[in-house]
Amino acid sequence: MEKIYFITGNKGKFKEAKEILKHLSIKLIQMDIDYPEIQAKDLKEIVLFGIDFCNERLKSPFFLEDSGLFIDKLNSFPGPYSRYIQETIGNDGVLKLLLNENNRSAYFKSTVGLYKNGPHIFEGISRGTISNEIRGNRGFGYDPIFIPEKSPKSFGEMTTIEKNKFSHRGKALEKLAMYLGSGVE
Ligand code: IMP
Repeated sequence: MEKIYFITGNKGKFKEAKEILKHLSIKLIQMDIDYPEIQAKDLKEIVLFGIDFCNERLKSPFFLEDSGLFIDKLNSFPGPYSRYIQETIGNDGVLKLLLNENNRSAYFKSTVGLYKNGPHIFEGISRGTISNEIRGNRGFGYDPIFIPEKSPKSFGEMTTIEKNKFSHRGKALEKLAMYLGSGVE
């Protein structure tokens, strides 16, 4: 069975990927390589830099993923700074920034970079709104404050299978699964 590494330290992301790729005959292995995340506006640039860094250290096929939350009213902030904002002001801080704000539209974007005989990029977007309060305790990061379109639940109130149907990462990983399942070498 072919081995593919998912380079991430995030167990939540790995769980989501495992669920989506489970029907393929590949062995998915989590590996935490602390690759440098360059300061760039475009997630694709960050991912391509990460691919180059990991490619020098790993001989098997691998993929990595970078994502961000883009809030309309805040001119797409935090975007590529999503991790820093999550680690500093957190979900309560983001809710405070939007206090009494009616326009709560936002989207998540996920960029997956596979290295298998060269780099391949797969992207997914999930549009929705920022909730008025913390909702649910599942998932990770911004999950309890993001409600995707066409859902009454926040990501924080969903199981992994439910979240994958709506999420940015679910969409990007479905494209990766199609590519890996198509037998392209
Ligand atoms: P990174 O892709 O690991 O750099 O993630 C950037 C930030 O966005 C981190 O703080 C993540 O916790 C958060 N984030 C990324 N994807 C999701 C998601 O699917 N749900 C909630 N938060 C997320």
